[in-house]
Amino acid sequence: MPVADQLKQRPTTKSRPAPSGIGPWLPWTDRAGRLSMLKLVVFIIVCAPTVYMLAVWWADKLPTMTTFVVKESGEWSMRFIVAAVAVSPLRRIARFNKLILVRRMLGLASLFYGFVHLWFYFTSQHYDWRFILEGALTAPFLTTGYIALLLMIVLGVTSNDLSVRKLGTNGWRRVHWIVFPAAVLSLLHFILERRTDGDEIALISGILLYLLSYRVMRYYNLPTGPIMLFLLAPLAALATVGMEGAFYKFATGVHAPTIMWLNVTFHEGLRPAWWVLFACLIIALVMIVQERFFSSAPARGERRR
Ligand code: HEM
Repeated sequence: MPVADQLKQRPTTKSRPAPSGIGPWLPWTDRAGRLSMLKLVVFIIVCAPTVYMLAVWWADKLPTMTTFVVKESGEWSMRFIVAAVAVSPLRRIARFNKLILVRRMLGLASLFYGFVHLWFYFTSQHYDWRFILEGALTAPFLTTGYIALLLMIVLGVTSNDLSVRKLGTNGWRRVHWIVFPAAVLSLLHFILERRTDGDEIALISGILLYLLSYRVMRYYNLPTGPIMLFLLAPLAALATVGMEGAFYKFATGVHAPTIMWLNVTFHEGLRPAWWVLFACLIIALVMIVQERFFSSAPARGERRR
């Protein structure tokens, strides 16, 4: 057997399971039962909104507590589903394979906050099921929310090793493509609900568009090297400006060019499009650094596996 293969098979200190009582099922351990700092940090992050909501509940006892929880949990569910969508592209671009360890956790966190959101919405409606059903069928903003959550439930139920074995890797991947319609529908629900403040909507739309473009480019075997990523960054930013203008025009009736012009005058600070641009440029830069300094095989024009 070649020496390289023998070395691969030799157990290392790193791959040895942790000695006492740490199981691979814990949210902060990897499959070998070792403590994973990455998983621990992400676990703390996904728990933080719950701690925050409980703290506000305990300290303030707001009269509008139910509305507060509906809003907070909805926003966090949205953020975590976008983060889950971002895992695969970032893992490939940064060649940071360990990121995959947290994709399931982010998806399940999004589902968890989706359930909290739904439960507190029911509470806010005093469990008036007739009214709730009527809303689900007649209000597009609620209908999109229900469909998004249903898709997220399918993702959650199949997010385990048994489903991967039963569906086969390709079948499982096909099923998990529905994370994209789930994220887009959640965003649509968010857009239809918000009537005044579109900054976070514009930011999430721009990031989602960038991630979806990357996935589509890979799907069609188009080049996805650093040059393409650099070109994609200003395009995503411009699209964000367009979406921001469109949102404010339709939601508030404000003249779209007036809002879009703020991106140039900076009168309202850095608009979402700039944050999208910086985030996308950093991603492209990470890819260059990774290629130049840490990798022997160039990622330029890398093809879908
Ligand atoms: C299961 C069906 C759903 C129902 C019945 C529902 C219901 C609602 C309601 C009533 C609001 C308005 C809250 C308020 O202004 O007081 C809202 C807002 C929101 N929902 Fe949902 N939702 C559902 C699913 C989802 C899902 C799956 C997501 C995200 C993944 C989501 C994300 C949001 C966001 C981000 C907001 C805006 C919160 C804000 O104004 O800051 N919702 N939803």
